[in-house]
Amino acid sequence: TKVGVFFGGISVEHEVSVISALQTIDAMDDRRYEPVPIYMAKDRTWYTGGELLDIEAYKDLDGLLQQVQSVTPVPAENGGVMLQKKPVPKFGKREVAHIDVAFPVLHGTFGEDGVLQGFFELLNIPYAGCDVTSSAAGMDKIVMKQMLRDQEVPVLPDVWFYQHQWAGQQASLQKKIEEKLGYPVIIKPANLGSSVGIDVARNRESLDTVVEEAFSFASKLVVEPLISDLTEVNCSVLGDAEEMETSELEEVLKTEEILSYADKYQSGAGGKGDTSGTKGVGGMENTDRVIPAPIDEKLAAEIRRLAKETFRVLGCSGVSRVDFMIDKNENQVYVNEINTIPGSLSFYLWEPAGKDFTTLTHEMIQLALK
Ligand code: DAL
Ligand code: MG
Repeated sequence: TKVGVFFGGISVEHEVSVISALQTIDAMDDRRYEPVPIYMAKDRTWYTGGELLDIEAYKDLDGLLQQVQSVTPVPAENGGVMLQKKPVPKFGKREVAHIDVAFPVLHGTFGEDGVLQGFFELLNIPYAGCDVTSSAAGMDKIVMKQMLRDQEVPVLPDVWFYQHQWAGQQASLQKKIEEKLGYPVIIKPANLGSSVGIDVARNRESLDTVVEEAFSFASKLVVEPLISDLTEVNCSVLGDAEEMETSELEEVLKTEEILSYADKYQSGAGGKGDTSGTKGVGGMENTDRVIPAPIDEKLAAEIRRLAKETFRVLGCSGVSRVDFMIDKNENQVYVNEINTIPGSLSFYLWEPAGKDFTTLTHEMIQLALK
């Protein structure tokens, strides 16, 4: 079976995607599958051919990580990669090889948000992971939260708005935020990953500044109350609407209030304390983590239940990672976000659960071909 592994892409998570994809290709069972690397460069040129795997820069994971660490998100107006509009993608250099199934390993905009998935639908190629709607819903915090709320999955209250609304009704939106949420609040672009454009505001003045800043990354924002005493726990889910299972849990350790882009990609390598020695965990390579998460069994069971519920409500398939926030003061768990193509496909959460990366890729391909 020829498996087209799509990677690269034009989001800020380009380098992370390269790492995740190389790990995925490396993990694939070569008696069953023939991986065909299909790479999208940042200029939207597509490349394929086994030579891709020989490109020195890609082979050298340390070098790549340094690149990842040197990436700084740039607002679109300053030439940032995220929101740039360019001509229609073109297939360059080599023709795309025949494939039996597509395996997208792109994170973020245009890879994880349903756009690429729609392309596969159009081409009538089976593909691994979430479909168009679940990918799009998973990427858009407002859509995701509304779907989860409807089905009694706990998410934080919020106020959300478009840029044109802020321009026209700033005073009433400020009032709504203050009455419904109170300060401090956290402001997030509604549909970008990687903590890009996320910041905290503690009063009306900083709210205005942070909102303006966030609008340079996205035209739709979501404002939530800031949880002061927070634990972040993640759980991966594998399967489809009919049958799904959950992985081991991880606790993500962070140095600041928000797990920032810098925490995710720019903090020094090497874990603290009892962190997993697992190498190369994609987008979270340099984030300190504890596996299994040191939380009590009852809470862990509740998180697993909610992870499955999230996966079910959004209509996911393949492997996703659901990220939770635990408010330690209120003793309350909230779903924060879902990554429908998680860094390294979160294989490191499945290993302790007895499923190696090879089995994980096999099951994902089988789900795609079901
Ligand atoms: N978006 C990155 C890759 C993650 O959270 O896993
Ligand atoms: Mg994420």
